[in-house]
Amino acid sequence: MTDRFDLTRRLPDGYFADALSTDVLKGLTGRPKSLPPKWFYDARGSELFEEITRLPEYYPTRAEHEILGERGDAIAAATGARTLIELGSGSSRKTRLLLDALLRHGTLERYAALDVSADALREAGEALIRDYPALKVTACVTDLETDLGMPPAVRGPRLVAFLGGTLGNLDSAARPAFYAALRPELAVGDALLMGIDLVKDPAVLVPAYDDAQGVTAAFNKNVLLVLNRELGAAFDPGAFEHRAVWNEREERIEMRLRSRHAQTVALPELGVSAEFEADEEVLTEIAVKFRRASLTAELARGGFGVSHWWTDAEGRFALILAEPV
Ligand code: SAH
Ligand code: AVI
Repeated sequence: MTDRFDLTRRLPDGYFADALSTDVLKGLTGRPKSLPPKWFYDARGSELFEEITRLPEYYPTRAEHEILGERGDAIAAATGARTLIELGSGSSRKTRLLLDALLRHGTLERYAALDVSADALREAGEALIRDYPALKVTACVTDLETDLGMPPAVRGPRLVAFLGGTLGNLDSAARPAFYAALRPELAVGDALLMGIDLVKDPAVLVPAYDDAQGVTAAFNKNVLLVLNRELGAAFDPGAFEHRAVWNEREERIEMRLRSRHAQTVALPELGVSAEFEADEEVLTEIAVKFRRASLTAELARGGFGVSHWWTDAEGRFALILAEPV
């Protein structure tokens, strides 16, 4: 590894084991059952997510790629960013469009990738230093719900990117908490770039989360394999059914795992068992779909003013640039 790439861990030793135990105790031993989506992303889960991004039904990645390709130069001109910080960066594949535009603009010096998945960060970082020899790349393993993991003392202007629609995986209480954590980290001249998925026909939305090849089902069930490995549990993924449901009132997709029959699954590391009734569901992810007026108002309450709102040609997905106000 060269000195241009550096992978750090922001969280204390044992953080993930403790957080997983707490989430599983809270989420699987009572009712209604739920698990936070961050536990999808071990090495296999990150790979499955990449596969999802290539599915014909999963339009968000292609739509966001289209917008970044068209608007990268405008983003570079508007921000003049010296440092690009990306939250939940995953493979950093689409980020390359931003890196290219900011390098063409002549301002970019450093890219800082932050993610809960060390495997995704390592793979992405190694590919980036190979392909971008002039760029300083750092990566930080963090849980953005606890500690954003913003790199200290980097040169501004800074552009913070939160792409892919991941904002939608936060609920209406977690989003204001996210803005409140981020806002004090940003100074005048810094900017926030977010990719967000828009409300549309459920006939398009549901297949995007329940594809014909079953990749999203495997991604959803991967969380059970994470629990088997990390907590010594014995979940049978075949005993659960993948479900993707459009919640009209909340305007969000809900991914759930439905127990096919009544079952008790021991969680040896926790000294307890999880009891499932037949057809009982575990909520494993929400994916909120947004509207322009309400998201703009929500961001204003969080201390951000939206300066640009760009969509793909089909109006499915938006990329928004906002400034701290
Ligand atoms: N930005 C990429 C990846 C989106 S997938 C894209 O647009 O394609 C969501 C990413 O967020 C994954 O890489 C996952 O590991 C990361 N992630 C999920 N929850 C997280 C959390 N609590 N803290 C940090 N990263 C998280
Ligand atoms: C990362 N996130 C924005 C994806 C989404 O669309 O909510 C995760 C995902 N879940 C199922 N498919 C994709």
